[in-house]
Amino acid sequence: MLEVNNLKTHFKTPDGVVKAVDGVSFSLEPGETLGIVGESGSGKSVTALSIMQLNPKPPCEYPEGEILFEGQNLLKVSESRMQKIRGNDIAMIFQDPMTSLNPVFTIGNQIMEAIRIHQKVSKSEARQRTVQVLRDVGIPNPEQRARDYPHQFSGGMRQRAMIAMALSCNPKVLIADEPTTALDVTIQAQILELMVGLQEKYGTAIIMITHDLGVVAQIADNIMVMYAGRAVEKGTTDQIFYDPLMPYSWSLLRSLPRLDTAGEVRLLPIKGSPPSLIFLPKGCNFSPRCPFVKDKCYEVDPILEEKRPGHSAACILSVEEIQANKSRMDEELGVERQA
Ligand SMILES: Nc1ncnc2c1ncn2[C@@H]1O[C@H](COP(=O)(O)OP(=O)(O)OP(=O)(O)O)[C@@H](O)[C@H]1O
Ligand code: SF4
Ligand SMILES: [Mg+2]
Repeated sequence: MLEVNNLKTHFKTPDGVVKAVDGVSFSLEPGETLGIVGESGSGKSVTALSIMQLNPKPPCEYPEGEILFEGQNLLKVSESRMQKIRGNDIAMIFQDPMTSLNPVFTIGNQIMEAIRIHQKVSKSEARQRTVQVLRDVGIPNPEQRARDYPHQFSGGMRQRAMIAMALSCNPKVLIADEPTTALDVTIQAQILELMVGLQEKYGTAIIMITHDLGVVAQIADNIMVMYAGRAVEKGTTDQIFYDPLMPYSWSLLRSLPRLDTAGEVRLLPIKGSPPSLIFLPKGCNFSPRCPFVKDKCYEVDPILEEKRPGHSAACILSVEEIQANKSRMDEELGVERQA
């Protein structure tokens, strides 16, 4: 349904070209949930905004690649066509709900407007649909609350209102960019449950963008790990969680506390910070921070390649070398080896 091939999204700035997304490919099937994870600045939001065609042009350029949605290349369609696709076929929940809800209109009016822009329905039908989606996302008293302004909603309710708006036209693809970051853990869990419920009801495909690996573990079928604008590992959620084959993904997992490991486990912070997207290091982008680095990593830029069926990683080490490194480090950290 959605196929992204070798997407490059670059920004021309006075300091140089920022290669925010640099050759990313993935695909998404109906009903599937793809998790996109990676540190701040790795290009997750820019990837989403490229699909929505919402990166500011200029400075944004797409020097290569294609984004095929139901066979049409979104990088090539007209803005008027894109306006029909946005919201109607592909909807996005933005990282910050306050920037996407208009403070001077009621929540109900904003959802009704989204419905009326995309679908030929009467005003009263749009009103009914609005109340229904607000009910779907768990807003109590939706008839009454639809008349509230965004500031009258709590943070969790605003996030629900954003989801309601995104779902109001029953999109085929829902892109959720850090939809739960600003929320406390119990509300986070409710929102995730809600998204899964709505996905089951409507068969929506979801792209879940987050730096929180716990979130993707709960809901994603497949995961793409991004580092410095590139996809560095792709596989099923189980493959990435239980047998990561790219040292960066492994490091991300080892930098977080986990509930599923027995006994005392030391955490391993990832040293240093992500590279500048204008001046990338020679060789592997992760080499200055990689715990498994070898001399040749400073020379060779690894490409994303299939290491096991359906599981690819961008690392010059063989699977055996990676496994040996992981075991050695796990022993030092006190992580019990998985059978
Ligand atoms: N309009 C722009 N002009 C120049 N650079 C930009 C622009 N938008 C994004 N970038 C750069 O692109 C890179 C990727 O940004 P992006 O927002 O995709 O990161 P992210 O992975 O979503 O991070 P976070 O987890 O913090 O949301 C960053 O270095 C950012 O500064
Ligand atoms: S190529 Fe080398 S530096 Fe890069 S991730 Fe693999 S081991 Fe680490
Ligand atoms: Mg982001």
